[in-house]
Amino acid sequence: MKGNMVIKDASQLVTCSGFAAKPGKEMSNLHIINNGAVVIEEGIITAVGISEDVLSDFDESGFEIIDAKGKAVLPGFVDSHTHLVFGGYRAEEFSWRLRGDSYMDIMQRGGGIFHTVKSTRQATKEQLVEAGIRRLDSMLSFGVTTVEGKSGYGLDFSTEIKQLEVMQNLDELHPVDIVKTFLGAHAVPEEYRSRDSQYIDYLINKVIPEITKRNLAEFCDVFCEENVFSIEQSRKLLSKAKEMGLKIKIHADEMVHSGGAELAATIGATSADHLLQASDKGIRDMAETGVVATLLPGTAFSLKEPYARSRYMIDHQCAVAIATDFNPGSCYTESIPLIIALATLYMDMTTEEAISALTINGAAALDRADTIGSIDVGKNGDVIVLEFPSYKYIPYHIAVSTVEKVIKRGNLVFDNIERGG
Ligand code: NIG
Ligand code: FE
Repeated sequence: MKGNMVIKDASQLVTCSGFAAKPGKEMSNLHIINNGAVVIEEGIITAVGISEDVLSDFDESGFEIIDAKGKAVLPGFVDSHTHLVFGGYRAEEFSWRLRGDSYMDIMQRGGGIFHTVKSTRQATKEQLVEAGIRRLDSMLSFGVTTVEGKSGYGLDFSTEIKQLEVMQNLDELHPVDIVKTFLGAHAVPEEYRSRDSQYIDYLINKVIPEITKRNLAEFCDVFCEENVFSIEQSRKLLSKAKEMGLKIKIHADEMVHSGGAELAATIGATSADHLLQASDKGIRDMAETGVVATLLPGTAFSLKEPYARSRYMIDHQCAVAIATDFNPGSCYTESIPLIIALATLYMDMTTEEAISALTINGAAALDRADTIGSIDVGKNGDVIVLEFPSYKYIPYHIAVSTVEKVIKRGNLVFDNIERGG
């Protein structure tokens, strides 16, 4: 459904204007229009500017009107890294981690990702869709209008395909748009224990061809990490995936430095994600080649690991995105306000940088900077209205959502006032 809508008299229209990733200092410029208006026709933004200019001689009939007096208006948030389709939960493991067990130790004992693989293999498509809708509702309430979702809890042909099909269904059923990523290389499944290279060949020869034939994913990702997949295995998988038409993401340098950032730069990845242990060289390589650095502060927080070096990255001209990494193990949260709190208070990002990281740079991390991530003519009418007059309230109201309304392609799809909020 593509709506016609006018949002007018916004005390601040925070456009985040731009059609490409914003590196370094450019992240500080939010391109704000005071007393702004946006016109959305058939779901697409057709005018942006000062309210009096945009709306003089404008015939409002046929348009839903949102009065944004006293409110700030921004592009919808783009959560560019999540694992949102999975069966079961791992609350028990969380309590083990509180007692001192490490995430990787739990995984090596057959828990962690393997626990979720068992439950996801057992779950029906209907169960996964139902849980997915609830999770997307929660994300939407935080102002997310586009989310990336990864497979990777099947590690076999039928379950990996099932996860991607579920995301395809969810994309049709729910207003939040879903960008699909194939993460068959999330762990080596039990059936391939000690035969990890054969598992990579299986993904290349059997699973990816089916995915590309049916257009079930846009990106291919890999968990490139000590004791999971090596740099060489990751390079092989990703270069074949690229040849077969998929774009590339990497879970890189999360627990130890293994050269994932450098690999992302040489292979032409769209983004490298996590990067807690990325080297100076890896960061500079990413900046030079335009790989978006997607940082996941909720995961560092939840695993009690050091945060990624966002300041060094931005000061060295990287385009930084931030995302939730929503998943049942290392970071079970959809909370955008939590991510913003961590990015600003613990990663030394400014409010402006955090907002660019969740809008235009999130869009760039999904290769969608031409259609989403800013309020610009020609882009999708995906917009949020805050309950406050300035974007500066976003981190200030610590870990609480300031989003009052969410508009998706010109339709009002979430209204906290109607909910009694
Ligand atoms: O991004 N690091 C690997 N994958 C996920 C966690 C998946 C899980 O624990 O279920 C992550 O943190
Ligand atoms: Fe992840």
